[in-house]
Amino acid sequence: MSLPPLAEDRRSRRFADGYDRVFAEVERTFLGPIRTRLVGQLTGRVAEIGAGTGANVRHYAAADHVTLVEPFPAMRTHLQRRLDGRQGGIPMEAVDGRAEALPFEDGSLDAVVSTLVLCSVADVERALAEVSRVLAPGGVFAYLEHSRGRGVKRLVQTAITPLTIRYAGGCRHDRDLATAIAGLGAARVEEVRVPSPLQVRLLPEWPLIAGRATGLAQPADH
Ligand SMILES: C[S@@+](CC[C@H](N)C(=O)[O-])C[C@H]1O[C@@H](n2cnc3c(N)ncnc32)[C@H](O)[C@@H]1O
Repeated sequence: MSLPPLAEDRRSRRFADGYDRVFAEVERTFLGPIRTRLVGQLTGRVAEIGAGTGANVRHYAAADHVTLVEPFPAMRTHLQRRLDGRQGGIPMEAVDGRAEALPFEDGSLDAVVSTLVLCSVADVERALAEVSRVLAPGGVFAYLEHSRGRGVKRLVQTAITPLTIRYAGGCRHDRDLATAIAGLGAARVEEVRVPSPLQVRLLPEWPLIAGRATGLAQPADH
């Protein structure tokens, strides 16, 4: 099943065009090492949802093939440019698609990766049901997401969410993604260490959760 294309406007194009520049320092000092730990060891057929400009591309080291799913043309342009700039390495392709309707057969993938994506998909529950559907038995869901905090953090997250929806590609800081991911009913979750957010300047995305979940429960209609 396919869904209609997502509307792209001037702001979302600007977000895509500035993404790598704005996050360059954070990638170098903070996110990059987490990405390496998260996806570096994934093997077999891998797909990434909301791959953006391809920040994870250089961190794959053991996969047979990586399909990078990205619904926004402006993001895909940067992603394709990154792929075109590679010389050799793991075969990768960029494809159009939404997390809520993934272009893969049931049980056809060894790993699905989602990094900083579930904050902005329209329907988190459906996206996670799709992750479960496309993973083969024993397949891995590797995630790095920011989730709703408590107390003052939560107040700040709620306050900034209208701004990040508008200027940061529909990103919501007020989503309880930790609970949503726990709802996948994984048999095993291997947490990936994220340094204390106190060490992170310029990154209001907290708390960050990262891990590799295996043995996900199958969606009810499968
Ligand atoms: C903050 S960016 C993260 C990009 C990349 N995953 C990374 O780690 O840098 C969020 C991405 O999610 C994508 N996105 C938004 N809605 C989506 C949906 N329904 N399905 C798949 N991707 C979506 C956006 O186009 C954007 O590329």
